[in-house]
Amino acid sequence: MAVIGKDILQAKNHLNAGELVAIPTETVYGLAGNALNSIAVASIFETKNRPSFDPLIIHVSSIDAAKKYVLDFPEILQKLAINLWPGPLTLLLPRKPIVPDLVTSGLERVALRVPDHPLTRELLERLDYPLAAPSANPFGYISPTTPHHVDAQLGNKIPYILDGGACRVGIESTIVGIENDEVVIYRLGGAEIQEIENIVGKVLIKSHSTSNPQAPGLLESHYAPRKPFLLCTLNEIIPEWLAKNKNFAVLSLSSHFPELSESQQIRLSPSGNLREAAANLFAAMRKLDEGEAEIILSELMPDVGLGKSINDRLKRAAAKESIK
Ligand code: TXA
Ligand code: MG
Repeated sequence: MAVIGKDILQAKNHLNAGELVAIPTETVYGLAGNALNSIAVASIFETKNRPSFDPLIIHVSSIDAAKKYVLDFPEILQKLAINLWPGPLTLLLPRKPIVPDLVTSGLERVALRVPDHPLTRELLERLDYPLAAPSANPFGYISPTTPHHVDAQLGNKIPYILDGGACRVGIESTIVGIENDEVVIYRLGGAEIQEIENIVGKVLIKSHSTSNPQAPGLLESHYAPRKPFLLCTLNEIIPEWLAKNKNFAVLSLSSHFPELSESQQIRLSPSGNLREAAANLFAAMRKLDEGEAEIILSELMPDVGLGKSINDRLKRAAAKESIK
């Protein structure tokens, strides 16, 4: 079983030996290995049961460190990095040959970010190599936002989980690149569209394709609980399903339903704050997935700011199902 601790030196020793360590970031926990060691990278794919067509993000300690792995760093993307790193932003940049093919799934761009978590930044500063790290969950399942989430699913496969507490942002980074001089968002995430547009002007959003060649990992069905997960208007469905005696639980932004038991419902943010909702999202989805209900019902969030990023996760979680 994995040891859970705050010892950066121990994490470093495991990584130096080519082993994997779960690391805290402000978004979600990552399953990290030496990005320049193809064997360590291969074991990330194996441990996560991840298809090798889904490339990994490389985590570095600074903009200067990022530059070691890219052929070109367009000024407009540097502007984003200067303003938003460390933070929940990943940039796609043309890679240098020292980045192993496996990391980028053979693509010409490599994904890079500077995570905003003191333990992981200190760890990165003490390593001679960057860390490749996907979210530390089995492929397709809900991303982990606490050391306990990682331990529950990958604890028997890795030696160490660096304990940085609960993740502050709670959903993955926003992935951004450039096409024909235009800034493109490939995955909605912790950095809001508006924040990005305030820095670089209007951007193009390309996050909804089921087979997006620029970001093969952005599959339509992802971040999914094991139980059926359905999106609906809660006020309409709850009375119907109570009448039918269905065994369900409910995820809402802020609504409380007195006709349901407390264990049957989770509010992501009683005050309707979307930052708080994002931070609580994955833990809430897990809790309902582990609970007694057979089906999970959720509403969509208001389609603004982080609400858009949360909705992206909710839609992917629900992609396999429809209301019957
Ligand atoms: O917040 C995050 O980004 C977290 C933390 C741990 O940093 N990481 C994360 O990694 O969410 P992962 O592997 O679960 O999702 C990364 C996604 C992949 O699914 C893939 O689609 C996209 O990033 N990606 C990575 N490298 C890419 C590349 N070279 N070109 C296009 N898309 C890429
Ligand atoms: Mg992931």
